[in-house]
Amino acid sequence: MLARKSVAQVQHETETSQLKRTLGPWNLVFLGIGCIIGAGIFVRTGNAAALHAGPAVLLSFLIAGVVCALAGLCYAELSSSLPVSGSAYTYSYTTIGEFAAWIMGALLLLEYGLAASVVAVGWSGYVVSLLGDWGIQVPLELTGPAGHALMRDGKAVLDAAGNPVTTIFNLPAFLICMALTALLVIGVSESAKVNNVIVAIKMAVIIAFILIVGWYCIQHFDTLSANWKPFIPEPTGEKGEFGWSGILRAASIVFFAYIGFEAVSTAGQEAKNPKRDLPFGIIGSLLVCTILYILVSIVMTLIVNYKSLNVPDPVAVAVDALGPQWGWFAKTIKIGAIVGLTSVILVLMYGQTRIFYTMARDGLLPKVFATIHPKFKTPWVNTLLVGLITASAGAFFDINTLGDMTSVGTLAAFGIVCLAVIWLRRTHPDLPRGFRVPMYPVLPALGIVACFALIFTVETRVLIFFGWYAIAAIILYFLYGMHNSMLHKGVTSNAPHDLPAYKEDAPGA
Ligand code: ALA
Repeated sequence: MLARKSVAQVQHETETSQLKRTLGPWNLVFLGIGCIIGAGIFVRTGNAAALHAGPAVLLSFLIAGVVCALAGLCYAELSSSLPVSGSAYTYSYTTIGEFAAWIMGALLLLEYGLAASVVAVGWSGYVVSLLGDWGIQVPLELTGPAGHALMRDGKAVLDAAGNPVTTIFNLPAFLICMALTALLVIGVSESAKVNNVIVAIKMAVIIAFILIVGWYCIQHFDTLSANWKPFIPEPTGEKGEFGWSGILRAASIVFFAYIGFEAVSTAGQEAKNPKRDLPFGIIGSLLVCTILYILVSIVMTLIVNYKSLNVPDPVAVAVDALGPQWGWFAKTIKIGAIVGLTSVILVLMYGQTRIFYTMARDGLLPKVFATIHPKFKTPWVNTLLVGLITASAGAFFDINTLGDMTSVGTLAAFGIVCLAVIWLRRTHPDLPRGFRVPMYPVLPALGIVACFALIFTVETRVLIFFGWYAIAAIILYFLYGMHNSMLHKGVTSNAPHDLPAYKEDAPGA
């Protein structure tokens, strides 16, 4: 269970990977932003403000941002010393050992696979709303998760006979996941180019929102400032509803908005200069997004009362407050959000396929996950499977449950990454590191505590589900992973002869 891959071995695997090295530093920042700005800010912020934190959602963003920054620094250090595909999974394998790597693989399925489903549901909300503006009504039953009563403005929608409409299946969410799967099968360099264009559109929309709505807020600050009174609404008495407990609960919701900065580290085998460029991509994209989020949340909660933000398209609702003459801008925002959310699903699914690819190379998943398409050079079977999983989860589950599961899984993964930094410093003190976490060991230790503290702010039923998921993952390790692992079988064909040997990697270390 504690068997480790040697550092030299993972470096060798990076060199022998069949994936093409096509990504430069700015491609990586764009890859990060492509993944970060998505359903978190465009959709879940509304729910977090309306039901949990009020205008103080701004503080929730700050708290979640600090937690991510702590984990981000740890990711940057690990990615600068172990620049390999597979991200936190490989870091755990190289530092703590195989069992931790397996658990990390299970957590990353929540972080990437499930997050892609969350964003697909958000995408569906904006698409249905935009089509509605254009007079096209998607059948309501096909716009939500299985067995949920359809709600509009807090009220159940009724059919002609006066019965509540129950949704069956989220068709748009399913379709977008399958369409992007096809794009990913075609190849990463094509996908990265598409990603760059999409990120530019998404940034333009967000910046336009901040400038136009922000300017309006400054001009009408005297009246609009009433929306910030009280800045922290009185707690209702229920845990997580306003007051400080609400702010913390909202922090675990908007934490979702930051997920993705570390997706950059999954591209280790496709980066041109991973040692220098991975930390740049991680920290750079996290910083840009934090600033944008704080500005968006200030503007959003000033222009309308937080109570009206619990809708599938809260950013558009904020723009509507400018008046009917700005209707074109609300539609532009919806189009930008749809395009932006598309890029997020793409990058999350990309990350998930690369994690499965690496796990299959290690024997922890069946070999078929590592089969590379002869023409496109992508792990195509694996990509098709990831597409089906994310599409089905997005089609049948509701966004809040999926989102909370993603946040919990990701926070646990981040906590382990912070631990891995401490572990690697102790076992491999001399390993060359392109980037070192400042104030070591205080910051990584704080990262561990902060991640686990935030996990316990989510709803109990989500925590229970997460507990069962973890137990299932542990059982599967003993039934499958342990027996098929290349490391356990003693297969070391990847072992290097010509790479520098670190003394910590001596046999038996
Ligand atoms: N951070 C990503 C989003 O908000 C996952 O959609």
